[in-house]
Amino acid sequence: QATGLKDLYKEDFYIGTAIGNARLTNPPAGFNELVAREFNAMTMENDMKWERLHPEPNRWVWDYADQFMAFGEKHGMFMVGHVLVWHSQTPSWVFNDADGKPLSRDALLARMKDHIDTVAGRYKGRIHAWDVVNEAVDEDKGWRKSAWFNQIGPDFVDHAFRYARAAAPEAHLMYNDYNMHNPGKRQFVVDMIKRFKNTGVPIDGVGMQGHVGLGYPEIQEFEKSIEAYAAAGVAVHITELDLDVLPVAWDHIGAEISDSFEYSDELNPYADGLPAEVEEQLAERYAQWFKLFLKHRDKIARVTFWGTGDSESWKNDFPVRGRTNYPLLFDRDYQRKPAYDAVAALK
Ligand code: XIL
Repeated sequence: QATGLKDLYKEDFYIGTAIGNARLTNPPAGFNELVAREFNAMTMENDMKWERLHPEPNRWVWDYADQFMAFGEKHGMFMVGHVLVWHSQTPSWVFNDADGKPLSRDALLARMKDHIDTVAGRYKGRIHAWDVVNEAVDEDKGWRKSAWFNQIGPDFVDHAFRYARAAAPEAHLMYNDYNMHNPGKRQFVVDMIKRFKNTGVPIDGVGMQGHVGLGYPEIQEFEKSIEAYAAAGVAVHITELDLDVLPVAWDHIGAEISDSFEYSDELNPYADGLPAEVEEQLAERYAQWFKLFLKHRDKIARVTFWGTGDSESWKNDFPVRGRTNYPLLFDRDYQRKPAYDAVAALK
């Protein structure tokens, strides 16, 4: 059995990848073997989200999620559930009654509980860690004003964690978000964790998504957050790591998922391949991140990449569609990139 990243980092943290249903159901040649060799943790990229599992009130779709479980369990993976409660990729029927009127607080809480019972309950004892709530905080402005927040109030988060613990008592429960290095968000999340601990709301970990780029964020700010979350008493997971090499197209980091950025060739400079010097910058930047993660290996439970090969990455279509991005460790033919070697060489 050849050595993969999971073996090199065995004493440090799990090394994970996110799997989309295209690769799950129709894997390119060698893909399954590569995933089994390199990774010991798996997240489903989209198919455990509410809109996929429960697109209509009376329709549940379990095929992909069940296949994902079978694949991961065959290889003894640490299985991550993504995601129970989120404002995005959640159908609008969830928030309304049959007449299209917004549900009351109690009715929406009941609907949330039913979803968590059904989903976390189905995979009880098999999903090792759940992203219970995703992206509930709006940068340094406090709670995101989502339908969950507006219709229930800020304690929708408390309830989600309590329901998840009841439905899947053995699962490690996480709060997951992007830009978790942002000082305002850091303080808000630390306060939330402390309040949870004081009031008996179960939380075991935080997920720092890790959608980073060549020039952002500042590694020291990210480090301060790793330290602050760990000091508040939870495990830190890097849950969605990828490193965008393309020109930054959004006005401010943390923009909503949006189609409002028009494609232009200027924003897609590497359509014909990545210049060697950028390949090198990518490798160096990845090495910097993994040095940081190794330094905090006592606090970090897992580092998961948001995809395996560059062709799969959502970063080809976000926040501008139709670009050619290079954010991962394997190229479009699933060959190891210099960035892979740089991460492997640290061990
Ligand atoms: C992304 C997927 O990668 C895309 O395929 C999908 O179109 C949109 O969602 N934060 C999250 C992930 O928590 O679920 C998102 O995944 C990326 C941002």
